[in-house]
Amino acid sequence: MTDLFSELKHQTSAAHQTLEATAPFNTMLKSDSFSSQSYKNNLTILASFHQYVAQLIEHNPRVCELSALLQPQTTLQAIHTDLRSLTDLQPIPQYNAGLEKQNMGDLIAAGYVWMGSSMGAKMLHRWLLQHNYSHLPIHYYAHMASIGRNWRAFQQLALQLAETHQISHQRCAHSAKTLFEELIHCANRVNQVVE
Ligand code: HEM
Repeated sequence: MTDLFSELKHQTSAAHQTLEATAPFNTMLKSDSFSSQSYKNNLTILASFHQYVAQLIEHNPRVCELSALLQPQTTLQAIHTDLRSLTDLQPIPQYNAGLEKQNMGDLIAAGYVWMGSSMGAKMLHRWLLQHNYSHLPIHYYAHMASIGRNWRAFQQLALQLAETHQISHQRCAHSAKTLFEELIHCANRVNQVVE
């Protein structure tokens, strides 16, 4: 069963790379191209992703334990606290990856992309602190960096749920890839507005 995570990583790595190369994500960790505007756009796109996944897992009796690890309410609060303290924001883009609340493979995929994003978030949080961006609010990144400690517990729970519900690994990996593609799509739409 542990090969579920190898499959997820393998099937999403190209999309992850594309995401990292797409504005505004391609400005993160790069002092020469990073700006307040790219940070704001980055947060609005991530807000759309987290809102979408939160409505899939919150109040979903199938995945109470998953919800406890992902902490959707605290995550949304953190990102909206940051957004409220910023001005001249783009509207939060519509995000829809077509996942189903009733499908355990889809829910695991959503948890994977959410929890996995905490790894990049940990680096970005450290980078923001080290590079004197104290004028930017970082509740969201501080929170995501902290839930990164749930990664192992998430993996164990996901494997257990995958086994109990006999999920299709293929569908799970496909849904995870779709979540990345929708992030890229949202980023491209936000970029069009900015240009
Ligand atoms: C510029 C922004 C980002 C950077 C620099 C970044 C960087 C990273 C790094 C260094 C890892 C660990 C890779 C490893 O240990 O093998 C990782 C993993 C991951 N990231 Fe990102 N990331 C970024 C944005 C995102 C976003 C926005 C998401 C999704 C919302 C995301 C989802 C994931 C996932 C799911 C993994 C787990 C891959 C695995 O080990 O299976 N990342 N990221």
